[in-house]
Amino acid sequence: MLRLNGVETRYGKIVALRKISLEVKEGEIVALLGMNGAGKSTTLKTISGLIRPKTGTIEFMGKRIDHVSPEEIVRQGLIHVPEGRKIFPGLTVRENLVLGATGRKIPMSQVNKDMEEVLEVFPDLIPLMDRLGWSLSGGQQQMCAIGRGLMAKPKLLMLDEPSLGLAPVIVQNMFQTIKKINRNGTTVLLVEQNARQSLAISHRGYVLEAGKVAAHDTALKLLDGIQNAYLGATRS
Ligand SMILES: Nc1ncnc2c1ncn2[C@@H]1O[C@H](COP(=O)(O)OP(=O)(O)OP(=O)(O)O)[C@@H](O)[C@H]1O
Ligand SMILES: [Mg+2]
Repeated sequence: MLRLNGVETRYGKIVALRKISLEVKEGEIVALLGMNGAGKSTTLKTISGLIRPKTGTIEFMGKRIDHVSPEEIVRQGLIHVPEGRKIFPGLTVRENLVLGATGRKIPMSQVNKDMEEVLEVFPDLIPLMDRLGWSLSGGQQQMCAIGRGLMAKPKLLMLDEPSLGLAPVIVQNMFQTIKKINRNGTTVLLVEQNARQSLAISHRGYVLEAGKVAAHDTALKLLDGIQNAYLGATRS
């Protein structure tokens, strides 16, 4: 579904991605892990067309998208929910959700129908529909941001650190919700620092280190690796 081949991205002279290759297959949740500054967000920004790769190719649904505009990439069904819960603070939850459907050019009746589906995924938003964005808690803003992404009916949903800054019990819910979104038929590329919990819901994972893919494997094998490294560290 999505394939990156030898992608290099720079900020001026800084090389942020060093020839990255990765693949997401239809139906998967793929975790993209790594420490601060490893290049996770840059990878998503490069895929969604916000930054152009210097070299390499990106294919989505069999077509090159590495020189396609961000708007067109959204129209093709590739949606990026950026880090830091970017919702419109002066708009209500309902207005934020409706905005997610712009670009699909569908009648309001269909928008309302799709909103019902999103509220099935995020029932906690139901009592908040007329609240303004700025008045929501961090977890509520994150639900609103992902809900808005779902309103675009993505084929592939890219989430940048959805668990960041949330209380532990809300983090659990967030990961369960991502699993549910995937079961409903949406492929997910999940950027996280929270390796253990994201691998627990993922099929496969990639680990970025200083702009390079340092490891990639099934989620189970990567989890084993983390476990062994941890045991090794506590024994020695
Ligand atoms: N706008 C920018 N201009 C210059 N350098 C940047 C810019 N954005 C990111 N970088 C650099 O690119 C590298 C990768 O950053 P990126 O934000 O992709 O990392 P990340 O893995 O998402 O980190 P985090 O976990 O902190 O979000 C870092 O060295 C960062 O300092
Ligand atoms: Mg980041």
